[in-house]
Amino acid sequence: MPVLDGRLETRLRSRMAEVEALLEREIESEASFVTEACRHLLHAGGKRIRPLLVLMAAEAGDADAPGVLTAACVVELTHLASLYHDDVMDEAALRRGADSANARWDNHVAILAGDWLFSKSSELTAQLGPEAVRIQAETFTRLVEGQILETQTPRSDEDLLDHYLRVVAGKTGSLIATSARYGAMFAGTSPEVVTALSTYGERVGVAFQLSDDILDVGSDTAESGKTPGTDLREGVPTLPVLFALRSTDPGDDRLRALLCGPLDDDAQLGEALRLLRAHPAMTEARAYVLRLAEEATAALDVLDEGPVKEALVAFADLIATRTA
Ligand code: IPE
Ligand code: IPE
Ligand code: MG
Ligand code: MG
Repeated sequence: MPVLDGRLETRLRSRMAEVEALLEREIESEASFVTEACRHLLHAGGKRIRPLLVLMAAEAGDADAPGVLTAACVVELTHLASLYHDDVMDEAALRRGADSANARWDNHVAILAGDWLFSKSSELTAQLGPEAVRIQAETFTRLVEGQILETQTPRSDEDLLDHYLRVVAGKTGSLIATSARYGAMFAGTSPEVVTALSTYGERVGVAFQLSDDILDVGSDTAESGKTPGTDLREGVPTLPVLFALRSTDPGDDRLRALLCGPLDDDAQLGEALRLLRAHPAMTEARAYVLRLAEEATAALDVLDEGPVKEALVAFADLIATRTA
């Protein structure tokens, strides 16, 4: 947890324990198999950064106000649902260090568990009133549009990096922006602070996905709980790949050829990963993420100096430099 102030950290830890208890209650279904399928990934782990961000943003106002905890639970349930669906799309076998739901059961179970979790999340959002419902619906629209856009080949006149950034803003920036926004909103902060925290959340969210894409190349299963190279295998061109493809160095011919072809062969995928890990595109991609995290931090200028702002700055730093 990226919190510097001891008292704030203790408070956030105890609030996160309340969020866990609420999540546990919310995924209880009368149909025991639904509970089992949804508990599977809830219990498998997860960093819980979205509910944590709700709680941290709420510290900019009245953090004990009604709605804050519920909002924290809503964003994690929405995220969890999106993971069930994402692993079907990406044919991923591992999630949070456990078998994905599609691997453990099948695609039908994974899709329906995801749907059920989205519905639970919506039921809970209804307790927060029409404004929260509207924001949740808009967020979900953006998230799904991002996921769909990722499956589309960019138009020939479209810049590949622009396309990728649009995908990332939709599939990941949207929900992380809403997490910070909900926290500020339910804690009753001023409209100016709500807007600033939404902007911060959107930028942190994009940086988070970009660093995740770098980790897909650079880390192993023990660190990430996922299978490395999943994006490459699925042909999803991420930041390091896009930077490497820009190279005109003949020494990169082999890597470029591998990246442009299908990578469903394990030996070729392994070779592409090895070449990419050693390529300057990785350093370039990390520098890009650091700049984005700095832009996120710049959005916090309107906040008073103090432990809450420091914690949000530290959170952005952590996301840009994370190794898991
Ligand atoms: C995974 O999100 C999907 C992305 C947006 C990269 P997280 O990395 O937050 O996943 P968990 O919740 O910690 O498993
Ligand atoms: C993350 O998708 C976005 C959502 C789940 C909405 P990715 O496919 O990029 O993330 P990982 O690597 O599977 O966690
Ligand atoms: Mg995936
Ligand atoms: Mg995906």
